[in-house]
Amino acid sequence: MTITDNIQDIDVYAGHEHILILDFGSQVTQLIARRIRESGVYCEIWPFNDVSDEQIKAYNPKGIILSGGPCSVGDKDSPRAPELIFKLGVPVFGICYGQQIMVEQLGGSVVSGNGNGEFGRAYVDVIGQNALFDGVWNNGAHEQVWMSHGDHVSALPDGFEVVGISEGAPFAVIADESRKFYAVQFHPEVVHTPHGASLYRNFTHNVCGCKGDWTMNAFKDEAIAKIRKQVGSGKVICGLSGGVDSSVTAVLLHEAIGDQLTCIYVDTGMMRTGESEQVVSMFRDHYNIPLIHEDASKLFLNGLDGVSDPETKRKIIGGLFIDVFDKCAKRVGGADFLAQGTLYPDVIESISFTGGTSVTIKSHHNVGGLPETMDLKLVEPLRELFKDEVRNLGRSLGMPEEFIKRHPFPGPGLAIRIPGEITEEKLEILRKADVIYLEEIKNAGLYDAIWQAFAVLLPVRTVGVMGDNRTYDYVCALRAVTSTDGMTADYYPFNHQFLGRVSTRIINEVKGINRVVYDITSKPPGTIEWE
Ligand code: XMP
Repeated sequence: MTITDNIQDIDVYAGHEHILILDFGSQVTQLIARRIRESGVYCEIWPFNDVSDEQIKAYNPKGIILSGGPCSVGDKDSPRAPELIFKLGVPVFGICYGQQIMVEQLGGSVVSGNGNGEFGRAYVDVIGQNALFDGVWNNGAHEQVWMSHGDHVSALPDGFEVVGISEGAPFAVIADESRKFYAVQFHPEVVHTPHGASLYRNFTHNVCGCKGDWTMNAFKDEAIAKIRKQVGSGKVICGLSGGVDSSVTAVLLHEAIGDQLTCIYVDTGMMRTGESEQVVSMFRDHYNIPLIHEDASKLFLNGLDGVSDPETKRKIIGGLFIDVFDKCAKRVGGADFLAQGTLYPDVIESISFTGGTSVTIKSHHNVGGLPETMDLKLVEPLRELFKDEVRNLGRSLGMPEEFIKRHPFPGPGLAIRIPGEITEEKLEILRKADVIYLEEIKNAGLYDAIWQAFAVLLPVRTVGVMGDNRTYDYVCALRAVTSTDGMTADYYPFNHQFLGRVSTRIINEVKGINRVVYDITSKPPGTIEWE
């Protein structure tokens, strides 16, 4: 994918304020975009090396942010910002490596820290006042920030002054107020810089003069107009998984094109209790959206018979899903478009200049894998949104809160929550345990505080005693994590009373389980799912 695919919406967003973020490969560039969007301003991340001066001019940003990155300014062929951005007359904000190239390109200098970098929590002494600090940091304050740098600025370009100093960065914050150029050595986008979000807000509002016109209501109206323009009188199919992304995509499309949309819900037999009924009743009965509900559970169970390797399971499920979906799509007859709930993080990841080949941890399966085998054009109305924005869009479409806040559920479903061979008996046992666990979480008012919670049925039997009898049954593992994007996660610290209550209920109420354990592994090194 090239950057031109990513800047498809210039005309749609032409009436809005934009900030452009040039990415130099930092692990946390996405967080910059989140902070800017949270301040009510639309922004996009473009890789520094795949963008022309014409594209930048056409985008017409109100301000430009240069992200951090892994390179050293002193490295041969290390990246630089397009010279144009310093001549456009718009504010520029350099972050970490972005600060260093800004300084170097404008005539200052950067030196290697020679092993004296700062990594993690650090403190900045504020020694000046400017539009970036207004109402957030006061002259003379000592402020916590998060640093991750080896090199640092050693001489400033003309026009700049130092307004913040840290132990390892004598030019931790610099500003040229007349040109509206600002730069920091630390990372304001991470939560460990407690006032970082306010500094970004000051940049967008105070420095760039943005008013904050990025609201989900505005997005919704524009997205609907854009879908109508793209689809015309064509037919669209949309794979529903019951997850937030595909659900919001479907409701948005329905609002835009009504019955030109048909949803396809494939029941793989690996769903949780009541899942299929909920999805079907919500979309077919509540929204009145034409829906094909394909019960393919026998096909999937047969296909998985005797298979215990996790990757083989995922591949079998992915392959069968495509076959079934394809068959259903043909039934719709003459479909021209496939709608997908692709989100902005997926778009950024697929165009990142640091992309390269990475190790496959798991072959993810979702409807995102479909188009390679089908001759359909894509409609991806959520391409510019982060997950929390998708939830807000769902709200502005009037979707029930219960649906919007649902925990993510993986495409391969319960198949990857039963390590080893899958049988109907095991699926039934797991479903019952999972219902109890989630019911207790909801009763305790903890559902929204948790990113994802589920039960796993281990392929291990252990000895127990119930009443006067010996039991020899399965072990159930409980998993609950907090996360912001599923990329990293921490286990949820339930109190012991809660865990005890869930364990007692599962063992008493679910025949086939006589032992319950709680998974306290974070990600990394674990993953959220067990397979
Ligand atoms: P892991 O287990 O990789 O999961 O830490 C991260 C997040 O992704 C979900 N997940 C999937 N979602 N198709 C999906 O749509 C998949 O194949 C898949 N595998 C994992 C997982 O539930 C968690 O939210």
